[in-house]
Amino acid sequence: MPAKAENILGIWDGHGRGTALVSGDRLVFSFCGSGSERGFPEEEAKKAAASLKEMNIGRVTAASAGISGRAPVRIFDGLYGKVKGASDPLKPSARFYRHYENVAGKIPVFNRLESAAGRYFLKKRLLKSGIEVKDLVLTDHHTAHSAASFFKSPFEESLVITMDGYGDGSSGMVSQWKRERGLINVVTKFSYVNSLAYLFGLFTRMLGFDEGEENAVEKLAGSGSFDKKLSDSTSKIMAFRNGEIVIQSARMRPEIFKKHEKTDIAYALQERLAEVVREMVLFFFKRNPCDTICFGGGLFMNRGIRRFLKECFDERFFVPDVCGDGSLAEGAAFHVSVNNGI
Ligand SMILES: [Fe+2]
Repeated sequence: MPAKAENILGIWDGHGRGTALVSGDRLVFSFCGSGSERGFPEEEAKKAAASLKEMNIGRVTAASAGISGRAPVRIFDGLYGKVKGASDPLKPSARFYRHYENVAGKIPVFNRLESAAGRYFLKKRLLKSGIEVKDLVLTDHHTAHSAASFFKSPFEESLVITMDGYGDGSSGMVSQWKRERGLINVVTKFSYVNSLAYLFGLFTRMLGFDEGEENAVEKLAGSGSFDKKLSDSTSKIMAFRNGEIVIQSARMRPEIFKKHEKTDIAYALQERLAEVVREMVLFFFKRNPCDTICFGGGLFMNRGIRRFLKECFDERFFVPDVCGDGSLAEGAAFHVSVNNGI
């Protein structure tokens, strides 16, 4: 049990928005909106305020994921919640914002202003919902994903791998965690430009589905069959080499969508995705000193990937049911609680 057992209120205002309360390494409550909702979680903040009141908890320390690039969406929260396709890979404005969030938001002076503005608006909205905040700590996106997975696992120590579209400049992180100390070592981070989940999202849109309907592509793949040309194409587009995820979406030829059946494209995509993730996971697991492994981030919602994890690791792995951004409020709170936000 960690020495510090202060109550930490987690809050997340992006996709899968929600609130959570953590005490030490124990999750006290968690309220999560639907995966498609974005913006300040008003309903969930009100539920948290009522629960805190019931527990006689006054001012709390709060934690949120998202160190860089989120001030604009926090300032213009109402608009952010309503705009359709805010993360749509086919929309130029969403593509621009993706770079802003991951690169421009990390410029030091700019980031300090951003961080102060983001904290100010989050605290103000929490107060309006009935929650008084002593301090609000912002944590790294993938650290929050990792904490959400590890602290809900039954393990005392573990390697943790997270993968998703992007957040705080990364599309994934490999790290080592211990229950009493939290994050002990970041092995590596994958750049946001080499994102398997973002590429899968791009294919999802090009196959005619809406943003966030990646599970429909997986279902479609179930009716597809092997095609050598498609298999070669997807191998060129995504790979795992020398400890790095490599994405070359410029090598994706748009004509494949005219020449091949959608089911076969989905099949090739799903097969290659599972292959690359498998190579990456085994690469880092073999170099890991402990024999358990946890996963977090939206990519691990993929059923094909979950299937091979079960085959490879059986009882030695853990993926929470909610592993996408719906877990970030919990994760930020766990990390600040155990690691004191470091
Ligand atoms: Fe995420």
